[in-house]
Amino acid sequence: MTEANGANSEVICATAPEGVLAELTHRCPLQCPYCSNPLDMDRAANELNTEEWIDVFRQAAELGVLQVHLSGGEPTVRRDLEEIVGKCAEFGLYSNLITAGVTLTRERLEGLAAVGLDHVQLSIQDVDAANADRISSYKRGLEKKIQLAKWVRELDMPLTINAPIHRQNIDNLEKIIDFSVALGASRLEVAHVQYYGWAFVNRAALIPTHQQALWSVDVVERAKERLKGIMTFDLVVPDYYAKTPKPCMGGWGRRFLNVTPTGKVLPCHAAETIPGLQFDNVRERPLLDIWLNSSAFEAFRGTDWMAEPCRSCELREVDWGGCRCQAFAFTGDARNTDPACGKSSLHKELVALANEEAGKPAPPFVYRRIRSDVAERKSAQESPAET
Ligand code: SF4
Ligand code: FES
Repeated sequence: MTEANGANSEVICATAPEGVLAELTHRCPLQCPYCSNPLDMDRAANELNTEEWIDVFRQAAELGVLQVHLSGGEPTVRRDLEEIVGKCAEFGLYSNLITAGVTLTRERLEGLAAVGLDHVQLSIQDVDAANADRISSYKRGLEKKIQLAKWVRELDMPLTINAPIHRQNIDNLEKIIDFSVALGASRLEVAHVQYYGWAFVNRAALIPTHQQALWSVDVVERAKERLKGIMTFDLVVPDYYAKTPKPCMGGWGRRFLNVTPTGKVLPCHAAETIPGLQFDNVRERPLLDIWLNSSAFEAFRGTDWMAEPCRSCELREVDWGGCRCQAFAFTGDARNTDPACGKSSLHKELVALANEEAGKPAPPFVYRRIRSDVAERKSAQESPAET
């Protein structure tokens, strides 16, 4: 039996993913030092072609996926974006374009709206134009983003602003909120940077003080009240300072999957930072089979993999043990309890390190560059913090 969106009802079950993050490309004109892309980025020549991406989305719809997040890098550098978006609409998938907003023309945005694009998520670096240029290593980006936001609203499309927050823009948080309201955003993601990948390399340059983090939570809570009915908020807290970790990805292999530019299917965007996991590719294995049976998805799905203190913790099916990538980045073993958890033996060390780094002058950024010295950055990332 086939549902309205083409999904096979035998496949739709409690285990179907809700959303797919499709990294259409790693190419991007910006070089943000907290980018969620891997340090070793995929080259354009190896990217899935149009037909391959369309097949991924067809399979996703059959699997029961509801939403696709078209991301990158910068997804608009793909010349076939209109074709991909059109097919997503045809398959009944809700499409969200995650863009840095510096490459789109009005004509192209109109074309995307015409083929069925549902939503635009625009990232900003800061509301201070010079600081935004410095963080992204891209000149005059802010004015382009403002222009794009206006076009999005003129075309009556819903707009989310995504604001990664860190020590070098956190003091402008109230202005970022006002800016988002003025642009007509219906949602603002105040996303404290999470420390793996590029952000782990740049942690000392990005991590705010505990006091700044608490202040930002308070600012958002007050703004939520003030802006009820105008703009909603998603707050991703800096869990280095939390007592319990975030339920990263809603639990490993439970709600989301991520497809890389070359077709690897990951349980989260940073999963490649964990050594030893084998990732299947949509070029070689059906998406349903990967979702249900891939060893990478099975590695940390559910609670069987957990050791103490998670194994006997009453929150194990609430936060699902936190973030595997953070556990690896800080402890060197992805099976360890996320050190953001107060029950982790390394939690105090994590908090002390955060306080120490946040209390010192920020070092220069290591910018995301496709031709970077990957080996050097990998070695920085793979060194457990306590060594
Ligand atoms: Fe979550 Fe594990 Fe900490 Fe319990 S011990 S709160 S399950 S991370
Ligand atoms: Fe990979 Fe949290 S980012 S599990």
